[in-house]
Amino acid sequence: MAVNNKWWKNAVIYQIYPRSFQDSNGDGIGDLQGIIQRLDYLEKLGIDAIWLSPVCRSPQDDNGYDISDYQDIDPMFGNLDDMERLIAEARKRNIRIIMDLVLNHSSDEHRWFLEAKKSRENPYHDYYVWRDGVEGTPPNDMRASFGGSAWEWVPELQQYYFHQFSVKQPDLNWENPKLRREIYDMILWWMDKGVGGFRLDVIDQIAKEPDLHITGNGPRLHEFIRELSKETFQKGDLITVGEAWGADPERAKLYSNPDGSEFSMVFQFEHIMLDQQEGKEKWDLAPLPFLKLKEIFNRWQCELYGCGWNSLFWDNHDLPRIVSRWGNDGKYRVESAKMLAILLHGMQGTPYIYQGEELGMTNVKFDFEDYRDIETVNMHRERLEKGYAEEEIMKSIYAKSRDNARTPMQWDDTEHAGFTEGTPWIRLNPNYTEINAASQINDPDSIFSCYRTLVGLRKQYPVLADGRFEMLLADDEDIFAYTREDETSRLLVICNFHDKEIPCPLSREQKEMKLLVGNYKDQNLETLRPYEARMYISEK
Ligand code: GLC
Ligand code: CA
Repeated sequence: MAVNNKWWKNAVIYQIYPRSFQDSNGDGIGDLQGIIQRLDYLEKLGIDAIWLSPVCRSPQDDNGYDISDYQDIDPMFGNLDDMERLIAEARKRNIRIIMDLVLNHSSDEHRWFLEAKKSRENPYHDYYVWRDGVEGTPPNDMRASFGGSAWEWVPELQQYYFHQFSVKQPDLNWENPKLRREIYDMILWWMDKGVGGFRLDVIDQIAKEPDLHITGNGPRLHEFIRELSKETFQKGDLITVGEAWGADPERAKLYSNPDGSEFSMVFQFEHIMLDQQEGKEKWDLAPLPFLKLKEIFNRWQCELYGCGWNSLFWDNHDLPRIVSRWGNDGKYRVESAKMLAILLHGMQGTPYIYQGEELGMTNVKFDFEDYRDIETVNMHRERLEKGYAEEEIMKSIYAKSRDNARTPMQWDDTEHAGFTEGTPWIRLNPNYTEINAASQINDPDSIFSCYRTLVGLRKQYPVLADGRFEMLLADDEDIFAYTREDETSRLLVICNFHDKEIPCPLSREQKEMKLLVGNYKDQNLETLRPYEARMYISEK
């Protein structure tokens, strides 16, 4: 089916990080029953699908991104019955469940890896990526994303295995057709259970060629993806999204080809990686280049028009909170959170809302002992060893730690924010007494209500799905403005990205248009107040 007819063109997806969403049994960890309890909240927000970060059986070295059984639910989250109940309860509210497929690697506790480690002749040995070696001299100097060498020595086999992430996340060998077949059968099994879609974790890294130092965008990548798609997703009406850190628009057109040969859409990060020094790690901070942000959005909006499909997002479970990053989490928290939402939700693509973003949840500053994320903890140790100052490391952690996004959902102002009756697995952000869902759901001026309006507008106005994007005032240092146009209507979005009042250069255009949503109660066409944002429409 061509992209134009796809239902997900008007969809909005909500991402849940299950361990931090809602605990139902007092063990301090969110779970599937907890999600079921909160479905009415999501129905009220109006979203069409939930992307569930991994809930399969896992030793939780990387919070579930290390799966030891793809066909079972981790007992921490519930069981298969709970999962089926979640799918059914969500369906009653017209919400689909999108599962997270982690196919680049498994856990080292997966049955396949336990077998693979037994001998070089074991039928599962070749499910992973091995190189002969001599202890102490890895095949090359490749580094793992979570620190240390990408090669781990197994004395029994006198071999190294390859891992792009932690040592407990051995890379799967996609060159092996037997492995690929097992993966497809597993996916078909989930499709049979009524799963509505899949998010493909670091899918751009599956076709690695470690001998050539290639991790992302390997030579056989799109061949593998097309086979995967044909053998599985194309047999159902699914929504699929490929996580691809290394995608440029050309490659994104392959991932999201309207002929349906790969995925529905791509999830790429070019607009996200701007506050780091070029060629360095994400911890090496750099100031936000506003004009660059505009240029990147402009490029992606124009280049994929009619020939690809993008995800629209500011936040996820790996990223700091957007209002603390590109917005203002102090005086103008409410205004800037809404501005960022209006800006993003006016564009072409499928919007994603990460849990708590719709409340304007912010980053945290914990003592180091209170951080839980493996990436954060490993980086802290490595940088201390390299001689970095503690304050400098903590500065990076405050700005970029993944735990910024992983503090529990702030439901109300009672103890532990209504997240759990036990001891939460990670500390809450202390600002939950002020920032929480209970205080926002019935307030028409809340951030929640602004998101709810934006989700509704996407259903109501086809121009939001189809309209052609045009950037306005490209060189303006304060304003982000653009139009979207189709045969019948024209949409205008204008945002003041900063905390000062400025003259509004578009007062004439605005006069002729109808205001759909804004973030200040009254309107003054001549000026834009701090972080002011407005979305207008006019019929042609
Ligand atoms: C993706 C996930 C991240 C995980 C990594 C390894 O980037 O979003 O949370 O740590 O892949 O699976
Ligand atoms: Ca629980």
